[in-house]
Amino acid sequence: MRCLLGFALIHMSVALNTALRVSQKPRFYGVTTRGSVCFYCLSSKQHLEARARWYKVGEYHEEPDKGEEVKAGGRIDIRAKALTEGGCLCIQDVHVEDRGVFFCRVNNTWGPGSELQVARPLSRIHALHKTEMKDGLIVLHALLLAVCIAAMLLRQRKLKLEKQDSEYEEPETHHVYEGLAVETCGGGLYEELSVYYAQPEGAEAPWE
Ligand SMILES: *[C@@H]1O[C@H](CO)[C@@H](O)[C@H](O)[C@H]1NC(C)=O
Repeated sequence: MRCLLGFALIHMSVALNTALRVSQKPRFYGVTTRGSVCFYCLSSKQHLEARARWYKVGEYHEEPDKGEEVKAGGRIDIRAKALTEGGCLCIQDVHVEDRGVFFCRVNNTWGPGSELQVARPLSRIHALHKTEMKDGLIVLHALLLAVCIAAMLLRQRKLKLEKQDSEYEEPETHHVYEGLAVETCGGGLYEELSVYYAQPEGAEAPWE
């Protein structure tokens, strides 16, 4: 039993040592639209002829065999890399839709996948512009606040000064004196006063 297990282990390690391994280069590529990009698929058995196929999925965690096979044509060029037929995948004039993860498969062995990220150059400029605008707005806000505070302080100061100046000749007070003067001239005020003083003596108060 022990012998059998040992034999199996040896057999497995030999199998692992001789198993085909596939690597991909680069593992990540970030590019702006209209740029070009190449991915390479490398077999661990460079001395053997092999055929590589490319599959594309949206994200790393997706099953590569459920992805669509990438075929040469148009902007996509698939060339041989050493003895590996189709070991080089190049995309020219990259579109935003090209973004995703590219897996290569050599003789039923999958590569680890290479991610392609595509950014619009315009969006980067736009983002930059937005950041600048934001910074500008913050500065503008600060300036406005400072101006408002300064204006408020100035107004308060001015009001204080005005109050000091007009303490003895406030227009409203002036009007009050004027009105009183008119009433005094007509004699109405004194007449009414005399009526008030005269009433309690003569007639009874209406509430009694
Ligand atoms: C891939 O498979 C073919 C045919 O089975 C074989 O001739 C070739 O050596 C294999 N290549 C690798 C790298 O294992």
